[in-house]
Amino acid sequence: MKQNKTLKLPKLIGHRGVKDLCPENTLESVARAFEIGLNFVEIDVKISKDKVPILLHDDTLNRTTSGSGLAIDYCYEKIKKFDAGKFFYKQNTNIFVPKLEDILSLCTNNNGNLNIELKPNKNFEKENVYQIYKITKNINQIDIFFSSFDMISILEISKLFPQSLRSFLLDDFKEYNVDDLINISINHDLKICGLNIDLVTTDIIKKIKESNMAITVYSNKNINTSSANDIFSIGVDSIFVDNPLDLLGKF
Ligand code: G3P
Ligand code: MG
Repeated sequence: MKQNKTLKLPKLIGHRGVKDLCPENTLESVARAFEIGLNFVEIDVKISKDKVPILLHDDTLNRTTSGSGLAIDYCYEKIKKFDAGKFFYKQNTNIFVPKLEDILSLCTNNNGNLNIELKPNKNFEKENVYQIYKITKNINQIDIFFSSFDMISILEISKLFPQSLRSFLLDDFKEYNVDDLINISINHDLKICGLNIDLVTTDIIKKIKESNMAITVYSNKNINTSSANDIFSIGVDSIFVDNPLDLLGKF
């Protein structure tokens, strides 16, 4: 990976590729993001039973593929046979769950950059990070940053790959408050943090920015132009976008 701890993040990062335009976390979704003009996408990565890092948001295959059950219970060759586009197009497709390696090639060929969210099945956190580390550690053609809601994953990637760029994600302030977030980030040299849009206030953003961290914001629905303007005006660096068509050209 480029040793680029001062990476300037783009304002718009595609969320699971561009999840409102294509089936999430697929080659098609990441390719579409680059085609329409984004240069950075976020993907969710976890390992299969045979330790292949694959793109999948949920613990199970149920919602986004024609398979069912935990992803960690299947070898990749089996997972690859499931239809990963039918839930989106409502008809059979040839779209499959890609390997992280497929996406890395796609990014390299399209001058695209990657946010890899470490999204392990429970009890496979360290193995997940190790397998992802193995296939990203020598990549230097594209920018990559790692993120996770999972503390085990953040600690493990910090230990294995201290020169990487990393981001702790918070969905709420139940387990960790903003001071905890800042302390964790300082202690583990995390240069970015990611917040649910519901946590964003002027004071919270100001406090985090005083610690010289970059801030990304995600939402469970597409962030519109008006919200994006508000968020950027108080100092947020990047937003994750499900459908950036209205936002491209404005930011
Ligand atoms: O990293 C931002 C976002 O991807 C976090 O939420 O649930 O879509 O992975 P989720
Ligand atoms: Mg994600």
